[in-house]
Amino acid sequence: MPASPAAYLLLHLFLRLTSKNCWQCLNDGDKFCLDNNKCIGNSSTHLGCSKLVDLPINCPSIPSLQYAYDDEFVRYTVLPVIAAAQRPDPQVCLEWVPVLRIPKFHFLVLSNQLPTMKVYKSREANCSSLFSDVTCSGYTGFDTTRKLIVLAIRGSHGVHQYYDLWKIGNENGTVPFFDAGRVTKVFHDNFESLWYGGLGDDLQNLIDIYPDYELWVTGYSMGASIALIMSAFIAQTGMSNPHNMKVVLIGCPRCTDYQFALWHSMTFPYSYHIIHAHDYAPRVPFYDSIDNISLYHPRTEVWYNNEMKEGDSYVICEQADQPFCSSQVQNLSTPDHMHYFYMDITRWADHGCPKNREDFKPIFGTHERIIVEDGFDETGKSSAIMKLFVLIFVVLLIHFQ
Ligand SMILES: *[C@@H]1O[C@H](CO)[C@@H](O)[C@H](O)[C@H]1NC(C)=O
Ligand SMILES: *[C@@H]1O[C@H](CO)[C@@H](O)[C@H](O)[C@H]1NC(C)=O
Ligand SMILES: *[C@@H]1O[C@H](CO)[C@@H](O)[C@H](O)[C@H]1NC(C)=O
Ligand SMILES: *[C@@H]1O[C@H](CO)[C@@H](O)[C@H](O)[C@H]1NC(C)=O
Ligand SMILES: *[C@@H]1O[C@H](CO)[C@@H](O)[C@H](O)[C@H]1NC(C)=O
Repeated sequence: MPASPAAYLLLHLFLRLTSKNCWQCLNDGDKFCLDNNKCIGNSSTHLGCSKLVDLPINCPSIPSLQYAYDDEFVRYTVLPVIAAAQRPDPQVCLEWVPVLRIPKFHFLVLSNQLPTMKVYKSREANCSSLFSDVTCSGYTGFDTTRKLIVLAIRGSHGVHQYYDLWKIGNENGTVPFFDAGRVTKVFHDNFESLWYGGLGDDLQNLIDIYPDYELWVTGYSMGASIALIMSAFIAQTGMSNPHNMKVVLIGCPRCTDYQFALWHSMTFPYSYHIIHAHDYAPRVPFYDSIDNISLYHPRTEVWYNNEMKEGDSYVICEQADQPFCSSQVQNLSTPDHMHYFYMDITRWADHGCPKNREDFKPIFGTHERIIVEDGFDETGKSSAIMKLFVLIFVVLLIHFQ
């Protein structure tokens, strides 16, 4: 992969020392062995090496201390911002809201998660070429105390939206994105529906009013993919400086090619996508069989291979994506996609994101797996679509039982 000297330098701002050798090694056309951090030629059989890097994006590195991942920050501060996007009235999840404003629930909701955070505007847009009842939504918000602007995008919901994502996702491939690679068309279409449906103007207004505020771009599930594309759009158009942004994505499906992933990784010092255990969504799709290209997550993956209870361990992945970290998992799970930070995210949001999280613990076992052992690897290209279809079907069953 060619990279300009400037990009090379930028990358090295947050790469660790070993990776310098790795990057150089791959630039020289060789491969890098992680067992012993040595460059080995591409002519050898590599039999002696169990972890081989052949893509520069996978050279070992972690974000510098300044941009380090903090579980407590994401769990208690960012998560309410993300969950709020699952509601038509996101402010319920953020501020204290008097009970009369939410007639649907007959118990008192004292959310008060982030009392100084105000919703600026919530937007909903039609976002399907197949169904008139499919919408995408997201909101912008601001916090004058924390000096913060937030942008959060809702996940997919409803049979028609699942079908739309499956159909267009598998049949319409990817589209070019500025000069930074390609992104999956269905997510790009959804991004455009929302962005030009008002969200882009809302964000610009907030940035005009609060030019020195930090900007968070967040989302869950499909909303994470859209948020990823939005973060890139914001950087490409110069609306905000990536060094002044935090990108936090939860259960994000792959939607970008290698070039995009490398560009995003080099451009955003604080960008985390969080994966719960065997969640199927971030592992699909690994290949776009319309344009015949592999898809990659940009850095940095945070993988909790447990129930994500408070204090549970996690891995900051030193590589970007396949075949490393969580993408080695073969048996995937739908329940794991619904449960993040030991809560059913949608149910928590539906109830106004109350501070007491006890009632929103996973109901069905976090470790229930959908077993898709065979073919779910880089060579199983043809069967991947069928597998995805099966998975989506299970999601439907779970959501509408
Ligand atoms: C080594 O890699 C380079 C660049 O990818 C390629 O042109 C060359 O043919 C490879 N050499 C061998 C012996 O495989
Ligand atoms: C979405 O489409 C429906 C039906 O075609 C229409 O009534 C509605 O106004 C549209 N909504 C938006 C936000 O464009
Ligand atoms: C998807 O591709 C089909 C066939 O090429 C085309 O007819 C359709 O308009 C495309 N849909 C979208 C949303 O791009
Ligand atoms: C992708 O591969 C398929 C099957 O080999 C081929 O029919 C198709 O034309 C290829 N698409 C592109 C964009 O190269
Ligand atoms: C999933 O795979 C792991 C090892 O990768 C194994 O320990 C576990 O038992 C498997 N679970 C199921 C349900 O097959």
